[in-house]
Amino acid sequence: MRKIVITGGAGFAGSHIVDEACLKYPDARVVILDKMTYAGDVRNISHHVFSNRAQLLVGDVADLELCRRVVKDASLVIHAAAESHVDNSFGNSLEFTRTNVLGTHALMEACRQERVPKVVHVSTDEVYGEVMHGAAAEDDVLRPTNPYSSSKAAAEMILRGYIQSYHEPIVIIRANNLYGIRQFPEKIIPRFICHLLTGRRLPLHGNGSNRRHYLSTRDFARAVLFVAEQGEIGQTYNIGTSEEYTNLQMAEMLCGHFGRGLEEVVEFVPDRPFNDARYSISWDKLQNMGWKPQHSLRDDLGMLVDWYVSNLDRYTELFGTPGELMLPTLGALVAAREVAQV
Ligand SMILES: NC(=O)c1ccc[n+]([C@@H]2O[C@H](COP(=O)([O-])OP(=O)(O)OC[C@H]3O[C@@H](n4cnc5c(N)ncnc54)[C@H](O)[C@@H]3O)[C@@H](O)[C@H]2O)c1
Repeated sequence: MRKIVITGGAGFAGSHIVDEACLKYPDARVVILDKMTYAGDVRNISHHVFSNRAQLLVGDVADLELCRRVVKDASLVIHAAAESHVDNSFGNSLEFTRTNVLGTHALMEACRQERVPKVVHVSTDEVYGEVMHGAAAEDDVLRPTNPYSSSKAAAEMILRGYIQSYHEPIVIIRANNLYGIRQFPEKIIPRFICHLLTGRRLPLHGNGSNRRHYLSTRDFARAVLFVAEQGEIGQTYNIGTSEEYTNLQMAEMLCGHFGRGLEEVVEFVPDRPFNDARYSISWDKLQNMGWKPQHSLRDDLGMLVDWYVSNLDRYTELFGTPGELMLPTLGALVAAREVAQV
């Protein structure tokens, strides 16, 4: 039976890759290696674990011997485990280097020793740094600007060495910001939704003008497995979308969904030590192979809010025990739908 290992599979993006792998390869054995940090949640994958579709192994990707045991006989390894939150990286950058750089190195060394035939490494558009005009292509120079993106770029440099020196069968993907259910509410969309639900203000960095593209995790997970099958060894593929918002526009869209006025809820807070104004990537390479995004945040917003309404009790440490929620009003929902249809 085919064995697929997914690191970080109990996290946000990783759990969507697990969903897609279980759906696409019903006969495969899916093994998740996850350290279960604050960002990992067994409920993200419990539907697969309880039905024996996937197995969860709790451990650290920086542990070479453990990684060797986990990847042994795997036909595919997808590496999504990481410390992923930029804000945390400013205060705790060594942990980002340990997990994202040393962890990637240990996992790749294990894959080399165990002769894993294909590895997909999940990286980010943030490795290109700020892109104010146009869009970064895969061969562009990496200019990361914060401890998180630097650690992701450093991990990629180690992989390049493995590709050149050992002909390791590695493919790298770099994705836009992702949106979807199960995202830990430290990132802007789930955080703002949870704040709106619990009557809190929306903290906006700086003046809210920083722009990001938002790609559906379902499109992302489909792309990861598409690249696992069709990606050429040694190549890098951008995974992107054209849906782009400033943080202020994001706050406006979410407030509109809840029927709340922007002025009554937004609170401007000091910016990060450095905050890239914009990221932008070209995903022509993947599109020419037949992949393109199928979902949009505007269409998925209602579904996303519904999920956080039903799952707010997961986050009591952040938001307390859910009391009376400030749900979107019917009028606001109708108005939001009309806007989405224009
Ligand atoms: N979320 C995004 O918008 C986005 C965009 C582009 C790329 N990415 C990349 O996708 C990957 C997943 O991101 P995410 O948003 O799902 O992150 P996340 O923080 O939600 O999940 C990360 C997962 O990795 C696990 N983990 C952390 N350290 C580990 C270690 N040492 N060993 C094993 N497991 C460990 C955590 O427990 C968690 O389950 C990351 O590589 C990230 O760089 C994310």
